[in-house]
Amino acid sequence: MNEPPPIGVYVHWPYCARICPYCDFNVYKNKQIDAERWLHALKRDLKYWAAKTNERKLVSLYFGGGTPSLAPLDLVAGVIETCENLWGFEADPEITLEANPTDAEQARFQNFADAGVNRLSLGVQSLNDEALKFLGRDHDAAAARRAIEAAQSAFKHYTFDLIYALPDQSETDWERDLKDALSFQPPHLSLYQLTIEPDTAFEKAVARKAWTPPDEGLSADLFALTQEVTSASGLPAYETSNHAHDGEASKHNLLYWRYQDYIGVGPGAHGRITLNGKRVATETHRTPEDYLTAVEQHGHGAALVETLDQEAQLAERLSMGLRLKEGIPLYADDYFYTDDARANRLNELVRDGFLFLDCGTLRATPKGAVMLNSLISRLLT
Ligand SMILES: C[S@@+](CC[C@H](N)C(=O)[O-])C[C@H]1O[C@@H](n2cnc3c(N)ncnc32)[C@H](O)[C@@H]1O
Repeated sequence: MNEPPPIGVYVHWPYCARICPYCDFNVYKNKQIDAERWLHALKRDLKYWAAKTNERKLVSLYFGGGTPSLAPLDLVAGVIETCENLWGFEADPEITLEANPTDAEQARFQNFADAGVNRLSLGVQSLNDEALKFLGRDHDAAAARRAIEAAQSAFKHYTFDLIYALPDQSETDWERDLKDALSFQPPHLSLYQLTIEPDTAFEKAVARKAWTPPDEGLSADLFALTQEVTSASGLPAYETSNHAHDGEASKHNLLYWRYQDYIGVGPGAHGRITLNGKRVATETHRTPEDYLTAVEQHGHGAALVETLDQEAQLAERLSMGLRLKEGIPLYADDYFYTDDARANRLNELVRDGFLFLDCGTLRATPKGAVMLNSLISRLLT
Protein backbone atom coordinates (compact mmCIF):
# COMPACT_ATOMS: atom_id res chain seq x y z
CA MET A 1 0.00 0.00 0.00
CA ASN A 2 1.19 3.53 -0.79
CA GLU A 3 2.26 5.71 2.15
CA PRO A 4 -0.23 8.55 2.71
CA PRO A 5 1.29 11.87 1.58
CA PRO A 6 2.87 13.98 4.34
CA ILE A 7 0.81 16.79 5.81
CA GLY A 8 1.40 19.79 8.10
CA VAL A 9 -0.59 22.62 9.69
CA TYR A 10 0.05 26.37 9.35
CA VAL A 11 -1.48 28.70 11.95
CA HIS A 12 -1.47 32.41 11.11
CA TRP A 13 -1.27 34.81 14.06
CA PRO A 14 -1.93 38.20 12.45
CA TYR A 15 -0.86 40.68 15.13
CA CYS A 16 2.39 42.64 15.44
CA ALA A 17 3.60 45.26 17.93
CA ARG A 18 4.23 47.52 14.93
CA ILE A 19 3.86 47.21 11.19
CA CYS A 20 7.20 47.15 9.35
CA PRO A 21 7.47 49.55 6.40
CA TYR A 22 8.49 46.77 3.96
CA CYS A 23 5.90 44.17 5.00
CA ASP A 24 2.84 43.21 2.96
CA PHE A 25 1.86 40.11 4.96
CA ASN A 26 -1.63 39.88 6.43
CA VAL A 27 -0.82 41.77 9.64
CA TYR A 28 -2.60 44.10 12.05
CA LYS A 29 -1.39 46.24 14.89
CA ASN A 30 -1.53 44.39 18.18
CA LYS A 31 -4.55 45.07 20.33
CA GLN A 32 -6.31 43.55 23.27
CA ILE A 33 -7.51 40.19 22.05
CA ASP A 34 -10.03 37.72 23.41
CA ALA A 35 -7.71 34.72 23.90
CA GLU A 36 -10.55 32.34 24.65
CA ARG A 37 -12.44 33.32 21.49
CA TRP A 38 -9.30 32.86 19.39
CA LEU A 39 -8.43 29.46 20.81
CA HIS A 40 -12.00 28.30 20.39
CA ALA A 41 -12.06 29.43 16.73
CA LEU A 42 -8.68 27.91 15.86
CA LYS A 43 -9.68 24.61 17.50
CA ARG A 44 -12.95 24.54 15.56
CA ASP A 45 -11.26 25.28 12.26
CA LEU A 46 -8.65 22.58 12.91
CA LYS A 47 -11.39 20.12 13.79
CA TYR A 48 -13.15 20.82 10.49
CA TRP A 49 -10.04 19.96 8.45
CA ALA A 50 -9.02 17.07 10.69
CA ALA A 51 -12.33 15.35 9.92
CA LYS A 52 -11.19 15.21 6.27
CA THR A 53 -7.51 14.36 6.76
CA ASN A 54 -6.83 12.76 10.12
CA GLU A 55 -6.04 9.33 8.76
CA ARG A 56 -2.62 10.99 8.46
CA LYS A 57 -0.28 12.23 11.17
CA LEU A 58 1.31 15.68 11.08
CA VAL A 59 4.95 16.11 10.12
CA SER A 60 4.89 19.77 11.12
CA LEU A 61 3.01 22.58 12.81
CA TYR A 62 4.05 26.15 12.04
CA PHE A 63 2.95 29.28 13.91
CA GLY A 64 3.64 32.16 11.50
CA GLY A 65 2.62 35.76 11.37
CA GLY A 66 2.45 38.41 12.23
CA THR A 67 4.24 37.78 15.48
CA PRO A 68 3.01 34.58 17.12
CA SER A 69 5.50 35.02 19.97
CA LEU A 70 3.08 37.76 21.13
CA ALA A 71 0.17 35.29 21.25
CA PRO A 72 -0.93 34.02 24.66
CA LEU A 73 1.11 31.02 25.77
CA ASP A 74 -2.07 29.07 26.54
CA LEU A 75 -3.26 29.60 22.98
CA VAL A 76 -0.05 28.17 21.49
CA ALA A 77 -0.11 25.26 23.98
CA GLY A 78 -3.83 24.70 23.25
CA VAL A 79 -3.28 24.53 19.48
CA ILE A 80 -0.40 22.05 19.88
CA GLU A 81 -2.53 19.87 22.17
CA THR A 82 -5.48 20.07 19.75
CA CYS A 83 -3.30 18.96 16.83
CA GLU A 84 -1.98 16.09 18.93
CA ASN A 85 -5.53 15.00 19.76
CA LEU A 86 -6.98 15.46 16.28
CA TRP A 87 -4.20 14.00 14.11
CA GLY A 88 -1.24 13.06 16.28
CA PHE A 89 2.31 13.83 15.19
CA GLU A 90 4.74 11.74 13.16
CA ALA A 91 7.95 10.76 14.94
CA ASP A 92 10.22 13.79 15.38
CA PRO A 93 7.73 16.45 14.22
CA GLU A 94 8.79 20.03 13.63
CA ILE A 95 6.83 22.59 15.68
CA THR A 96 8.00 26.09 14.76
CA LEU A 97 7.07 29.47 16.21
CA GLU A 98 8.08 32.78 14.66
CA ALA A 99 9.32 35.33 17.19
CA ASN A 100 10.66 38.85 17.24
CA PRO A 101 13.91 39.47 19.09
CA THR A 102 12.68 41.95 21.71
CA ASP A 103 13.68 41.41 25.32
CA ALA A 104 10.06 40.97 26.40
CA GLU A 105 9.63 38.07 24.00
CA GLN A 106 12.95 36.38 24.83
CA ALA A 107 11.75 35.97 28.37
CA ARG A 108 9.04 33.65 27.02
CA PHE A 109 11.16 31.41 24.77
CA GLN A 110 11.61 28.71 27.41
CA ASN A 111 7.86 28.77 28.14
CA PHE A 112 7.13 28.14 24.46
CA ALA A 113 9.64 25.28 24.46
CA ASP A 114 7.94 23.81 27.54
CA ALA A 115 4.59 24.06 25.71
CA GLY A 116 5.91 21.86 22.89
CA VAL A 117 7.46 24.30 20.38
CA ASN A 118 10.73 22.72 19.25
CA ARG A 119 11.99 25.22 16.65
CA LEU A 120 12.18 29.01 16.88
CA SER A 121 12.32 31.30 13.86
CA LEU A 122 13.62 34.74 14.82
CA GLY A 123 12.97 37.87 12.78
CA VAL A 124 16.43 39.36 13.34
CA GLN A 125 16.56 41.13 9.92
CA SER A 126 19.97 42.68 10.64
CA LEU A 127 22.71 42.78 13.26
CA ASN A 128 23.45 46.40 12.39
CA ASP A 129 21.73 49.23 14.28
CA GLU A 130 21.54 51.58 11.32
CA ALA A 131 19.94 48.92 9.11
CA LEU A 132 17.48 48.01 11.88
CA LYS A 133 16.46 51.64 12.18
CA PHE A 134 15.98 51.89 8.41
CA LEU A 135 13.84 48.73 8.49
CA GLY A 136 11.67 50.27 11.21
CA ARG A 137 12.35 47.47 13.67
CA ASP A 138 11.46 47.39 17.33
CA HIS A 139 14.83 45.99 18.45
CA ASP A 140 18.49 46.94 18.21
CA ALA A 141 21.46 44.73 17.34
CA ALA A 142 22.30 44.04 21.00
CA ALA A 143 18.75 42.76 21.64
CA ALA A 144 19.00 40.60 18.50
CA ARG A 145 22.22 39.04 19.79
CA ARG A 146 20.64 38.37 23.17
CA ALA A 147 17.63 36.81 21.44
CA ILE A 148 19.81 34.51 19.32
CA GLU A 149 21.58 33.36 22.48
CA ALA A 150 18.26 32.82 24.25
CA ALA A 151 17.02 30.81 21.25
CA GLN A 152 20.20 28.71 21.33
CA SER A 153 19.71 27.84 24.97
CA ALA A 154 15.99 27.03 24.74
CA PHE A 155 15.89 25.23 21.35
CA LYS A 156 18.05 22.68 19.55
CA HIS A 157 16.52 23.83 16.26
CA TYR A 158 16.33 27.52 15.50
CA THR A 159 16.73 29.85 12.58
CA PHE A 160 16.84 33.55 11.97
CA ASP A 161 15.92 35.83 9.07
CA LEU A 162 18.10 38.56 7.62
CA ILE A 163 17.18 41.06 4.92
CA TYR A 164 19.87 42.30 2.54
CA ALA A 165 20.16 44.40 -0.63
CA LEU A 166 19.30 47.51 1.39
CA PRO A 167 19.92 50.93 -0.22
CA ASP A 168 23.61 51.87 -0.13
CA GLN A 169 24.59 48.44 1.20
CA SER A 170 27.89 47.50 -0.44
CA GLU A 171 29.15 43.96 -0.95
CA THR A 172 31.65 44.60 1.86
CA ASP A 173 28.87 45.75 4.23
CA TRP A 174 26.77 42.67 3.52
CA GLU A 175 29.71 40.27 3.75
CA ARG A 176 30.55 41.68 7.20
CA ASP A 177 26.91 41.37 8.40
CA LEU A 178 26.54 37.88 7.00
CA LYS A 179 29.77 36.66 8.59
CA ASP A 180 28.65 38.22 11.86
CA ALA A 181 25.42 36.19 11.64
CA LEU A 182 27.30 33.02 10.69
CA SER A 183 29.56 33.42 13.73
CA PHE A 184 26.57 32.27 15.84
CA GLN A 185 26.80 28.97 13.90
CA PRO A 186 23.03 28.78 13.36
CA PRO A 187 21.75 25.44 12.05
CA HIS A 188 19.47 27.32 9.62
CA LEU A 189 19.28 30.84 8.15
CA SER A 190 16.78 32.61 5.87
CA LEU A 191 18.44 35.33 3.81
CA TYR A 192 16.00 37.52 1.88
CA GLN A 193 16.73 40.29 -0.58
CA LEU A 194 14.63 43.34 0.26
CA THR A 195 11.59 43.33 -2.02
CA ILE A 196 9.61 46.52 -2.51
CA GLU A 197 6.05 45.30 -2.11
CA PRO A 198 2.94 47.12 -3.39
CA ASP A 199 1.06 49.30 -0.90
CA THR A 200 3.84 49.43 1.68
CA ALA A 201 5.52 52.50 3.18
CA PHE A 202 8.70 51.48 1.34
CA GLU A 203 6.91 51.51 -2.00
CA LYS A 204 5.81 55.09 -1.33
CA ALA A 205 9.34 56.07 -0.26
CA VAL A 206 10.84 54.65 -3.46
CA ALA A 207 8.12 56.35 -5.55
CA ARG A 208 8.98 59.75 -4.06
CA LYS A 209 12.68 58.96 -4.56
CA ALA A 210 13.49 59.14 -0.83
CA TRP A 211 15.98 56.37 -1.57
CA THR A 212 16.76 53.89 -4.34
CA PRO A 213 17.03 50.11 -3.99
CA PRO A 214 20.18 48.49 -5.42
CA ASP A 215 20.11 47.90 -9.18
CA GLU A 216 19.81 44.42 -10.69
CA GLY A 217 23.56 44.04 -11.17
CA LEU A 218 24.41 44.76 -7.54
CA SER A 219 21.51 42.57 -6.33
CA ALA A 220 22.84 39.67 -8.42
CA ASP A 221 26.35 40.22 -7.02
CA LEU A 222 24.99 40.28 -3.46
CA PHE A 223 23.12 37.03 -4.12
CA ALA A 224 26.26 35.38 -5.55
CA LEU A 225 28.28 36.59 -2.55
CA THR A 226 25.65 35.12 -0.22
CA GLN A 227 25.97 31.71 -1.88
CA GLU A 228 29.76 31.84 -1.70
CA VAL A 229 30.02 32.92 1.95
CA THR A 230 27.35 30.55 3.26
CA SER A 231 28.73 27.54 1.34
CA ALA A 232 32.22 28.25 2.67
CA SER A 233 30.75 28.27 6.20
CA GLY A 234 28.98 24.94 5.76
CA LEU A 235 25.52 26.48 5.49
CA PRO A 236 24.68 26.12 1.78
CA ALA A 237 21.34 27.07 0.26
CA TYR A 238 18.81 24.27 -0.04
CA GLU A 239 16.26 26.75 -1.41
CA THR A 240 16.64 30.16 -3.06
CA SER A 241 16.72 32.05 0.27
CA ASN A 242 17.12 29.26 2.83
CA HIS A 243 20.30 27.71 4.15
CA ALA A 244 20.78 24.80 6.51
CA HIS A 245 23.11 22.20 7.89
CA ASP A 246 22.33 18.62 6.91
CA GLY A 247 19.08 17.52 8.52
CA GLU A 248 18.11 21.09 9.55
CA ALA A 249 16.08 22.11 6.48
CA SER A 250 12.61 23.23 7.58
CA LYS A 251 10.27 20.24 7.34
CA HIS A 252 7.29 22.57 7.18
CA ASN A 253 8.61 24.84 4.43
CA LEU A 254 9.67 21.76 2.46
CA LEU A 255 5.98 20.83 2.32
CA TYR A 256 5.37 24.08 0.39
CA TRP A 257 8.31 23.74 -1.94
CA ARG A 258 7.75 20.04 -2.61
CA TYR A 259 4.11 20.86 -3.27
CA GLN A 260 2.86 18.55 -0.56
CA ASP A 261 -0.13 19.01 1.74
CA TYR A 262 -0.68 21.65 4.41
CA ILE A 263 -3.75 22.96 6.16
CA GLY A 264 -3.93 26.72 6.81
CA VAL A 265 -5.92 28.17 9.71
CA GLY A 266 -6.04 31.69 11.14
CA PRO A 267 -6.82 34.84 9.11
CA GLY A 268 -5.61 34.88 5.50
CA ALA A 269 -3.95 31.44 5.71
CA HIS A 270 -3.53 29.34 2.56
CA GLY A 271 -3.74 25.56 2.35
CA ARG A 272 -3.12 22.89 -0.27
CA ILE A 273 -4.72 19.55 0.50
CA THR A 274 -5.19 16.31 -1.44
CA LEU A 275 -8.77 15.15 -0.86
CA ASN A 276 -10.23 12.13 -2.65
CA GLY A 277 -7.45 12.32 -5.24
CA LYS A 278 -8.14 16.00 -5.96
CA ARG A 279 -5.76 18.88 -5.21
CA VAL A 280 -7.66 21.52 -3.27
CA ALA A 281 -6.55 25.12 -2.61
CA THR A 282 -7.98 26.85 0.46
CA GLU A 283 -7.80 30.42 1.72
CA THR A 284 -9.35 31.77 4.91
CA HIS A 285 -11.01 35.14 5.49
CA ARG A 286 -8.33 37.81 5.76
CA THR A 287 -9.41 40.12 8.55
CA PRO A 288 -9.34 38.79 12.11
CA GLU A 289 -12.98 39.68 12.74
CA ASP A 290 -14.22 38.12 9.46
CA TYR A 291 -12.21 35.00 10.22
CA LEU A 292 -13.52 34.61 13.77
CA THR A 293 -17.11 35.25 12.68
CA ALA A 294 -16.86 32.78 9.79
CA VAL A 295 -15.62 29.99 12.06
CA GLU A 296 -18.30 30.76 14.63
CA GLN A 297 -21.04 30.70 11.98
CA HIS A 298 -19.88 27.92 9.64
CA GLY A 299 -17.46 25.81 11.69
CA HIS A 300 -14.53 26.73 9.43
CA GLY A 301 -12.75 29.90 8.32
CA ALA A 302 -12.42 29.22 4.59
CA ALA A 303 -13.42 31.99 2.20
CA LEU A 304 -12.25 29.91 -0.75
CA VAL A 305 -12.05 26.18 -1.41
CA GLU A 306 -11.13 25.45 -4.99
CA THR A 307 -10.10 22.31 -6.87
CA LEU A 308 -7.00 22.99 -8.93
CA ASP A 309 -6.81 21.62 -12.47
CA GLN A 310 -3.65 19.99 -13.80
CA GLU A 311 -2.46 23.19 -15.46
CA ALA A 312 -2.76 25.24 -12.24
CA GLN A 313 -1.01 22.48 -10.29
CA LEU A 314 1.82 22.37 -12.79
CA ALA A 315 2.36 26.13 -12.52
CA GLU A 316 2.46 25.94 -8.72
CA ARG A 317 4.63 22.83 -8.67
CA LEU A 318 7.22 24.45 -10.94
CA SER A 319 7.28 27.81 -9.18
CA MET A 320 7.69 26.23 -5.76
CA GLY A 321 9.90 23.26 -6.67
CA LEU A 322 12.44 24.99 -8.88
CA ARG A 323 13.42 27.09 -5.86
CA LEU A 324 14.81 23.92 -4.29
CA LYS A 325 18.36 22.76 -4.88
CA GLU A 326 17.04 19.18 -5.03
CA GLY A 327 14.72 20.24 -7.89
CA ILE A 328 11.49 18.44 -8.77
CA PRO A 329 10.66 15.00 -10.13
CA LEU A 330 9.68 15.17 -13.81
CA TYR A 331 9.23 11.73 -15.34
CA ALA A 332 8.16 10.91 -18.91
CA ASP A 333 4.56 10.21 -17.80
CA ASP A 334 4.24 13.64 -16.13
CA TYR A 335 1.34 15.88 -17.17
CA PHE A 336 4.03 18.37 -18.25
CA TYR A 337 4.79 16.25 -21.32
CA THR A 338 1.21 16.24 -22.61
CA ASP A 339 2.15 19.42 -24.51
CA ASP A 340 4.91 18.90 -27.13
CA ALA A 341 5.58 22.61 -27.51
CA ARG A 342 6.21 22.85 -23.77
CA ALA A 343 8.56 19.87 -23.87
CA ASN A 344 10.47 21.59 -26.71
CA ARG A 345 10.81 24.80 -24.73
CA LEU A 346 12.15 22.80 -21.80
CA ASN A 347 14.76 21.23 -24.09
CA GLU A 348 15.81 24.70 -25.27
CA LEU A 349 16.19 25.96 -21.70
CA VAL A 350 18.27 22.87 -20.84
CA ARG A 351 20.39 23.35 -23.97
CA ASP A 352 20.95 27.06 -23.10
CA GLY A 353 22.14 26.21 -19.59
CA PHE A 354 19.20 27.54 -17.52
CA LEU A 355 17.79 24.18 -16.43
CA PHE A 356 19.28 20.81 -15.75
CA LEU A 357 17.33 17.58 -16.36
CA ASP A 358 18.81 14.36 -15.13
CA CYS A 359 17.16 10.96 -14.56
CA GLY A 360 13.70 12.48 -14.10
CA THR A 361 14.80 15.37 -11.86
CA LEU A 362 14.52 18.96 -13.08
CA ARG A 363 16.68 21.63 -11.42
CA ALA A 364 17.62 25.24 -12.09
CA THR A 365 21.29 25.82 -12.89
CA PRO A 366 22.99 28.75 -11.07
CA LYS A 367 22.35 30.85 -14.21
CA GLY A 368 18.67 29.86 -14.17
CA ALA A 369 18.21 30.19 -10.40
CA VAL A 370 18.44 34.00 -10.52
CA MET A 371 15.66 34.31 -13.11
CA LEU A 372 13.18 31.65 -12.05
CA ASN A 373 10.04 33.69 -12.72
CA SER A 374 10.88 34.31 -16.35
CA LEU A 375 11.96 30.68 -16.86
CA ILE A 376 8.67 29.44 -15.48
CA SER A 377 6.57 31.77 -17.57
CA ARG A 378 8.57 30.70 -20.65
CA LEU A 379 7.90 27.04 -19.81
CA LEU A 380 4.18 27.59 -19.27
CA THR A 381 3.26 29.91 -22.13
C1 LIG B 1 6.05 38.33 8.05
S1 LIG B 1 7.62 38.21 8.72
C2 LIG B 1 7.21 37.54 10.29
C3 LIG B 1 8.40 37.42 11.24
C4 LIG B 1 8.47 38.31 12.45
N1 LIG B 1 7.21 38.66 13.02
C5 LIG B 1 9.26 39.56 12.17
O1 LIG B 1 8.67 40.65 12.12
O2 LIG B 1 10.46 39.48 12.05
C6 LIG B 1 8.47 36.92 7.90
C7 LIG B 1 9.79 37.30 7.26
O3 LIG B 1 9.60 37.74 5.94
C8 LIG B 1 10.68 38.56 5.56
N2 LIG B 1 10.12 39.69 4.79
C9 LIG B 1 8.91 40.25 4.94
N3 LIG B 1 8.74 41.25 4.03
C10 LIG B 1 9.87 41.30 3.29
C11 LIG B 1 10.31 42.12 2.20
N4 LIG B 1 9.54 43.08 1.69
N5 LIG B 1 11.53 41.88 1.67
C12 LIG B 1 12.30 40.89 2.17
N6 LIG B 1 11.96 40.12 3.20
C13 LIG B 1 10.76 40.30 3.76
C14 LIG B 1 11.37 39.03 6.84
O4 LIG B 1 12.68 38.56 6.89
C15 LIG B 1 10.52 38.42 7.93
O5 LIG B 1 11.29 37.93 8.98
